[in-house]
Amino acid sequence: MNTQEQLKKAVGEKAATFVKDGMKVGLGSGSTVYWLVRALGERIEQEGIQIEGIPSSIQTGAWAKEFGVPLTNFAETKELDVTIDGSDEVDPDFQLIKGGGAALFREKIIAQAAEKLIIIVDESKMVDHLGAYALPVEILPFAWERTAHEIEKLDCVPVLRLKDGEPLVTDNGNYIVDCPFERIEDPADLDRKIQAIAGVVETGLFIDMADTVIIGSSEGVTIKDK
Ligand code: A5P
Repeated sequence: MNTQEQLKKAVGEKAATFVKDGMKVGLGSGSTVYWLVRALGERIEQEGIQIEGIPSSIQTGAWAKEFGVPLTNFAETKELDVTIDGSDEVDPDFQLIKGGGAALFREKIIAQAAEKLIIIVDESKMVDHLGAYALPVEILPFAWERTAHEIEKLDCVPVLRLKDGEPLVTDNGNYIVDCPFERIEDPADLDRKIQAIAGVVETGLFIDMADTVIIGSSEGVTIKDK
């Protein structure tokens, strides 16, 4: 396992300790969340804690099944105690860019449903300003070129995300455009402007949502609260 993977494992396992018996847990997506789900499965097996998760992607749901984490859904439960997820960038105000794994829409649903949002990252994700990572935006396939053109007016050139030479289709049947803003001065304002465009389903900007960030670095694991 390389060093970055070890850091992801460390923060995933630390985050699992925040989950208490009886909790309903939003399970994010991505390679860091893999370690969280694995650690939760171990706690269920070793400590007998009873929890239920709602996954933010088909992949995370498959990991939950593999590691024995019981799942529920929003027909059964409307509120979550905690959601734990990775991120692509985190700024000093805990504003986030997410969606590198194309799961941003469902991730925002489980983030919004939770009393507390915990973000797990290795130190490479901590930035002074958001934007070096191209902002993922989920858009409807219908007239996607038109939607992308409107986003372009906000000063970036959106790139349709492809998979095997075809448009990547999200778990929700939509497309993703990656928007290289380079430096986002006002994340909340940009989020509002993109959300106002017809055809936009959701942005990867998570504004004022994160409560706690767990950061893995060569010095160890640091927990920062807002
Ligand atoms: C998925 O859509 C993303 O928001 C992920 O949470 C994010 O890309 C972080 O993924 P990694 O943990 O794999 O870096």
